[in-house]
Amino acid sequence: MSRKEILKSDALDDGYISHLRFVEESDAAFICGLRSDSKLNAHISQADVSVEAQRKWISDYKAREAAGDEYYFVIRHQAKDYGVVRMYDFQPDSFCWGSWIILPERPSGLVTFSALMMYEIGFDVLDYPRSHFDVRHGNTNVINFHLRSGATPTHADEANQYFNFERAQWPVFREKSAAQLNAHRMPCR
Ligand SMILES: CC(C)(COP(=O)(O)OP(=O)(O)OC[C@H]1O[C@@H](n2cnc3c(N)ncnc32)[C@H](O)[C@@H]1OP(=O)(O)O)[C@@H](O)C(=O)NCCC(=O)NCCS
Repeated sequence: MSRKEILKSDALDDGYISHLRFVEESDAAFICGLRSDSKLNAHISQADVSVEAQRKWISDYKAREAAGDEYYFVIRHQAKDYGVVRMYDFQPDSFCWGSWIILPERPSGLVTFSALMMYEIGFDVLDYPRSHFDVRHGNTNVINFHLRSGATPTHADEANQYFNFERAQWPVFREKSAAQLNAHRMPCR
C-alpha cells in the first residue's frame, strides 16, 4: 500500500526534472561506484562489495521494498543518476533516512532537494510524526546541514551523533528551501 502511494507521489514523478526512482538490480555498479569512491565513503559503513554482491543485496532489498519495510531510491536530474538515499527502520512514530550519497559534480540544489523528498514522502505521503537519523562524528557538512534544516540533536555515542526531525519543522524547512524545491520540481515535458 505505502509503496504504491510513494510511486504515485510527486517525489517519484519523472515529469519533473529532478525526482527519485526505486533502486533496481541494474543499479548495482552505480551504487558500488559511489560507495567505493574514497572522496565519498569516509563517513559511511565500509563494505568492500563486488557488483555481484551488491546486485544480490538489491535483490534481497526488493523483497523488503515490496513489504513496505525499506525504500531505497536513486536521485535523478535530467535523466541522469546522481546519487542514492534510503528510508528504513520504520518505527510506529518515526522513520529513519540515510545512506545518502550524491556525486560531487551535481546541479546546485540537488542535495537539499533530495532531503526535502525524504520529508515529503515521510510526512506527507506516509504520515509519520517524526524522523530519526544518525551521522558519524566528523561528517561536519552533513551534521551542519541537518542543524540548518531544523533537526534536533538527541544524543551521541562514540561513533555517531543522533538526530530527530519533527513534523512541525517540515513546513519551516520547506519554506526555507523553496528556491531549491521550485528549481528542481520543474516540469520537463
Ligand atoms: C551527504 C552529501 C550528499 C551532502 O552533501 P554536502 O555537499 O557534503 O553537504 P553540504 O551541507 O556541504 O551542502 C548541502 C547544501 O547545503 C548548502 N550549504 C552548505 N553550507 C551552507 C551554509 N552555511 N548555509 C546555507 N547553505 C549551505 C550547500 O550549498 C548545498 O546546497 P545544495 O542543496 O544547493 O546542493 C555528501 O556529503 C555525500 O555524498 N557524502 C558522502 C556520503 C555521506 O557521508 N553521507 C552521509 C551519511 S550520514
